Amino acid sequence: MRATAKAQPNIALIKYWGKRDTRRNLPAVGSISITLADLYTTMSVAFDKSLGADVLVVNGADDSSMLPRVSRCLDNVVGADRAHARIESESNFPIAAGLASSASAFAALVVAADAAVGRENTSAQLASLAGQASGSAARSLYGGFVELKNAGGDIIVSELRGRDDWPLRVVVAVTATGPKPVGSTEAMEASRNSSPFYDRWIEQQDADLDEARVAISGKDFARLASVAEHNCLKMHSVMWGSRPPMIYWNSTTLACMQTIRELQSAGVAVFFTIDAGPQVKAICKPEDEAAVQQALAATSGVEQVLVSGLGQGAVQINDD
Ligand code: DP6
Repeated sequence: MRATAKAQPNIALIKYWGKRDTRRNLPAVGSISITLADLYTTMSVAFDKSLGADVLVVNGADDSSMLPRVSRCLDNVVGADRAHARIESESNFPIAAGLASSASAFAALVVAADAAVGRENTSAQLASLAGQASGSAARSLYGGFVELKNAGGDIIVSELRGRDDWPLRVVVAVTATGPKPVGSTEAMEASRNSSPFYDRWIEQQDADLDEARVAISGKDFARLASVAEHNCLKMHSVMWGSRPPMIYWNSTTLACMQTIRELQSAGVAVFFTIDAGPQVKAICKPEDEAAVQQALAATSGVEQVLVSGLGQGAVQINDD
């Protein structure tokens, strides 16, 4: 009744922003992401009939803030009549700061919970279960380039291209490490309810997805760069237009964007993307990684630079 799984965060190149069904947490739009390799969360789940309640330990400390979402996710995977569980989570990167820690956490959680009770759901079923907990988590079940599509009353997640097939690199500039002021679930609802740009955002998403799919299939870096930056800035425009406005950037976020523009002008193959937090993720070709890493590390205000290749998606790992 105990199992451990490991999953990596993913970075969306074409973003999920908005829900069509809040109760089942179904996204309003499809999305395309890359799964990372070197940032990860390990999650152990041990069901134990002697426990009076679920217990969540995050990076060695009791943490009840995420417990309701975690307990609900376990109910969905195993059934509400399950035994209580002790859940232990460890991440090797800053959590709740716009680095998609909920994606790696819930992807690892569904794999571990499923393995602990010996059910062996398919990856597709586990992706759907992870997505109910956090939309982006569904994509972390798979590796490389991943697409999430809406299909009827569910989602379908699949790998578009393997990680070894187009081994891009990701350089993350950490510009602040505190938790974000407003979580993405609440911010998405604010956008849907009040942003004048929300409907146009939804309308245009299929065109961006089509363009990104073509770019990935043809390994066309310049085209992927162009559509990914466009899609990211459009998502943030939706947020900025919400009431109250959702502004996740700080001045270092802007400085990093400027650094990337300068690298691009100098002929470096790199582009940026930014999620619901102030960190800047730079995607580049392997031969440009050192230049990108150096330039972002030298940008005033950057606290830390993390580097990663593309990963394989969530897997069960052996318990000692
Ligand atoms: C900006 O998956 O965290 O990172 O489903 O409400 O948990 P919930 O939202 P979440 O949102 C991710 C938003 C994003 C874009 C993306 O990853 O596609």
